[in-house]
Amino acid sequence: MRPGPRSLLLPTPLSLSLRALVLLCLATRCQAVQAENVTVLEGGTAQISCRLQNYDGSIVVIQNPRRQTLFFNGTRALKDDRFQMVLFTPRLVRITLTNVSVSDEGGYFCQLYTDDTHHQVATLSVSVPPDTPTVEVKQEAVEGGEVELTCLSLRSKPPATLRWIRDRREIPGVVSQQENGKTVSVSSTIRLSVERKDNGAAVSCEASHPALGGQKRVRHYRLDVHFAPTVRIIPPPGILREGDSLSLTCSITGNPLPRDVQWTRINDTLPERAEISGPTLQVSRLSQSHNGTYLCQAQNNYGRAADHYALLVYDPGAVIETHSAVPYAVIGGILALLVFTIICVLIITIWCSVRQKGSYRTQEPILNWY
Ligand SMILES: *[C@@H]1O[C@H](CO)[C@@H](O)[C@H](O)[C@H]1NC(C)=O
Ligand SMILES: *[C@@H]1O[C@H](CO)[C@@H](O)[C@H](O)[C@H]1NC(C)=O
Ligand SMILES: *[C@@H]1O[C@H](CO)[C@@H](O)[C@H](O)[C@H]1NC(C)=O
Ligand SMILES: *[C@@H]1O[C@H](CO)[C@@H](O)[C@H](O)[C@H]1NC(C)=O
Ligand SMILES: *[C@@H]1O[C@H](CO)[C@@H](O)[C@H](O)[C@H]1NC(C)=O
Repeated sequence: MRPGPRSLLLPTPLSLSLRALVLLCLATRCQAVQAENVTVLEGGTAQISCRLQNYDGSIVVIQNPRRQTLFFNGTRALKDDRFQMVLFTPRLVRITLTNVSVSDEGGYFCQLYTDDTHHQVATLSVSVPPDTPTVEVKQEAVEGGEVELTCLSLRSKPPATLRWIRDRREIPGVVSQQENGKTVSVSSTIRLSVERKDNGAAVSCEASHPALGGQKRVRHYRLDVHFAPTVRIIPPPGILREGDSLSLTCSITGNPLPRDVQWTRINDTLPERAEISGPTLQVSRLSQSHNGTYLCQAQNNYGRAADHYALLVYDPGAVIETHSAVPYAVIGGILALLVFTIICVLIITIWCSVRQKGSYRTQEPILNWY
């Protein structure tokens, strides 16, 4: 049979026709025929080459995996500009295919029109490296709870390998793969227990793939651990007298950071001259009427916190006993030394008198101890 290019459209699956061709190949003088397999990145350009043996000028037909004729002795037969014939010599026919997609995969046939047993099949494989993976979080992480992170690589071929890394160590994940046509979507899920100290901690998901060589596509992720606020008033140093200015700053943590800080005075209203800007309360020209307990409060969805500061405003002329720790320590030290000295003196006195009494009363060789 002399198959015309159109009559070669075979309905059989590609694998079957390939196997048939291989068998045919084995049955005939095939030792010189070499399949030149090609692997190319998606979007790249494939070179499909066809070696001719003893070419006698007959028509060379090149067909795609669906056995549609691409070139009929150098003339384009299929309207697909991505295919170009770049070389036609008695030994070698070469075509290129640009912007390769996974649907171009398969065996490309090269045969003599006069004799369909003289053919070659070049298998084109398309490799799809993964994009940088994405990280999905199931639900928000709250301190004391767990967080579930899923790293997702939507498209790769062959499947990408995903690794979760924290502090340069791998965290084993639960991997699942799903085929989408010729490409595979891969996911890796980990669960972590989180405390507030983990807020902002870095984890990353690395996708590796043969087409990337040793390189990796890395997605960095920072843990977002929600927690109730903490509040601390930073007190002003020293004592405050009438006429001084007061500045109290409320140091707040929390995730999310509470947006508002409430300043109040317990059992009283805030002084008229109080100015609040963000976490800071300022009162200028203090008077004793400003005495009181000031409260700083903050809250978020996870809880609330408060700290207080007792303000005592002194008379400008008042002599203040300094309640600093140093004098107490010095006085304590002197007292301790005094007590120690007295005890020593007592012990020595008692010892001396006992020794003297003994020597008068008994006159025994105890004296030889001298
Ligand atoms: C080319 O690929 C086909 C199909 O994957 C395979 O059967 C064949 O052995 C390959 N040939 C070479 C030379 O690698
Ligand atoms: C096929 O093309 C080759 C190379 O251009 C040429 O040498 C040969 O004569 C052509 N064969 C036919 C039958 O046109
Ligand atoms: C490459 O092919 C894809 C579809 O396979 C198409 O969307 C894209 O526009 C093409 N790119 C070029 C440069 O032709
Ligand atoms: C506020 O007033 C209540 C009731 O009069 C009293 O029991 C409480 O001790 C007061 N608190 C302060 C900080 O003065
Ligand atoms: C404010 O506190 C100071 C210091 O304890 C005290 O001497 C003064 O009497 C207080 N004034 C008022 C109005 O409570």
